[in-house]
Amino acid sequence: MEKVFVMDHPLIQHKLTLIRNKNTGSKEFREVVKEISMLMGYEVTRNLSLEEVEIETPVCKTKAKVLSGRKLGIIPILRAGLGMVDGMLNLIPAAKVGHVGLYRDPETLEPVEYYCKLPADVEERDLIVVDPMLATGGSANAAIQFIKDRGATSIKLMCLIAAPEGVKAVCEAHPDVEIYVAAIDERLNEHAYIIPGLGDAGDRLFGTK
Ligand code: URA
Repeated sequence: MEKVFVMDHPLIQHKLTLIRNKNTGSKEFREVVKEISMLMGYEVTRNLSLEEVEIETPVCKTKAKVLSGRKLGIIPILRAGLGMVDGMLNLIPAAKVGHVGLYRDPETLEPVEYYCKLPADVEERDLIVVDPMLATGGSANAAIQFIKDRGATSIKLMCLIAAPEGVKAVCEAHPDVEIYVAAIDERLNEHAYIIPGLGDAGDRLFGTK
């Protein structure tokens, strides 16, 4: 599982506990999801390439590093993925944002795309797909496939909490995609909720039920 990275930074773990707590209301939940996304984004972007440029400080000329290479794209899976976008944009404001919306067909139980709007140059960007909960892996796998079908070649997946089942499913379907999570929990329950998890991430973000 060398392509699965669990971010055990103390700040991330502390904030994760805040959002797991059922007594944390939507306002604080949203704020903390944003903070965790930013902290995780810092690690996800650790290997971005740099190049040296010549600049002049007030004192002398020097060579200094700036980002080079491919531009970035952030792709939230609707709707809960929206909660992770602002934290990522704080870190990489020049990133473009695409959206993928899926629902589960009640008969076939297969994910069906109802919305997909990606940056026009998606094949030239390094993409980070964001969704707080990696449960069965069905939505993540379908979203990644839809993005690949539109030409994307460089994709990472960033989730707050994963179930072992979801990690396995994405690793099998998309071995080229690195997965970044703050925690891998115990298991899924019979309703495909992550145990212990944090409940329904979309409902907790947006105050719905
Ligand atoms: N989606 C959620 O929001 N929570 C879960 O536990 C699983 C999927």
